[in-house]
Amino acid sequence: SAVHVLSLSFGINYGQIANNLPSPSRVSVLLQTLNVSRVKLYDADPNVLQAFSNSQVDFIIGLGNETLQNMKDPLKAQAWIQQHVQPHLPQTKITCITVGNEILGGSDAQLMSYLLPAMQSVYEALVDLGLSKQVTVTTAHSLTILGDSYPPSSGRFRQDLAEYIQPILSFLAQVNSPFLINAYPYFAYKDNPGEVPLEYVLFQPNSGMVDSVTNLHYDNMLDAQIDAVYAAIKAMGHTDVEVRISETGWPSKGDPNEAGATPENAGLYNGNLMRKLEERKGTPAKPSVPIEMYVFALFNEDLKPGPASERNYGLYYPDGTPVYDIGFKGYLPQLTFSADSNKNNVSK
Ligand SMILES: *[C@@H]1O[C@H](CO)[C@@H](O)[C@H](O)[C@H]1NC(C)=O
Ligand SMILES: *[C@@H]1O[C@H](CO)[C@@H](O)[C@H](O)[C@H]1NC(C)=O
Repeated sequence: SAVHVLSLSFGINYGQIANNLPSPSRVSVLLQTLNVSRVKLYDADPNVLQAFSNSQVDFIIGLGNETLQNMKDPLKAQAWIQQHVQPHLPQTKITCITVGNEILGGSDAQLMSYLLPAMQSVYEALVDLGLSKQVTVTTAHSLTILGDSYPPSSGRFRQDLAEYIQPILSFLAQVNSPFLINAYPYFAYKDNPGEVPLEYVLFQPNSGMVDSVTNLHYDNMLDAQIDAVYAAIKAMGHTDVEVRISETGWPSKGDPNEAGATPENAGLYNGNLMRKLEERKGTPAKPSVPIEMYVFALFNEDLKPGPASERNYGLYYPDGTPVYDIGFKGYLPQLTFSADSNKNNVSK
């Protein structure tokens, strides 16, 4: 089969909840061969950051939920930056820190109350260290923070979260940081496979739907979800905050009750998403603003808890072989392990 030229304009989530992943240096070769220029981590793994030194790859790194209580303390935030970020700059391009993941979509009110103070302390630490121009601070949200999302122009955040989201939006606007959303049309399909057209969630040809308020036409759910987030942000008085997709993806395998989790569907979702990103078009509500996106995820992660789908979002198996054909461009390149050399070869 032909070798396809990829120039991937998507970012990728490099999760590591697994006991069988290739070394960061091998992953570095794979991602650079894929031309992936943006990677998101859930931590600040020094081995990964080191392996990507002198690469052209931009990194989002993460502060875990469990660190928020400490990060509220400006001194601890500063110590963390000094220990986990500063040593890697500038040779590894760390451009963003996410503080906590999906905190507001959960049910821990104490964590919610720590969120903004932690973001502020991390930001102030970056200012004090002279890094705030190159590293932004934000947090990633699940779509469950939306109360209304249909039609997209009626998107609104949940009332009970307004007290947290309003000041977070003001902060993001003030420091010019993006609003990150983890968006999974798969969840909508899985919950309602009889009603949600598969073509609509997989970016396949379909008749789509029209927003009755704006008359805008939507032919895929991800665009509708993004525009619902824009609408919710606007309803809070902000048109000055950029939306990015910090996670999206589709599982190649699931439990018997997880409809649609197949390699074919995952290949269509991710392949069509990549093609769409290459067109660099925005959403119906903001056609001239391409959305930066991070696919979830690089590898299947065998130690993730929850339903089988959770362990099967990867584009790759841990041994470096692609999980499925990504459709329009065929298979992704394969990471080849050569037993007799330290060199990492990536080949089709
Ligand atoms: C990556 O980009 C380079 C230069 O644009 C290109 O020659 C190469 O084929 C690309 N690699 C892949 C896997 O598409
Ligand atoms: C972080 O906390 C939120 C809210 O409690 C929870 O939904 C989410 O799964 C947590 N994330 C991680 C990586 O533990």
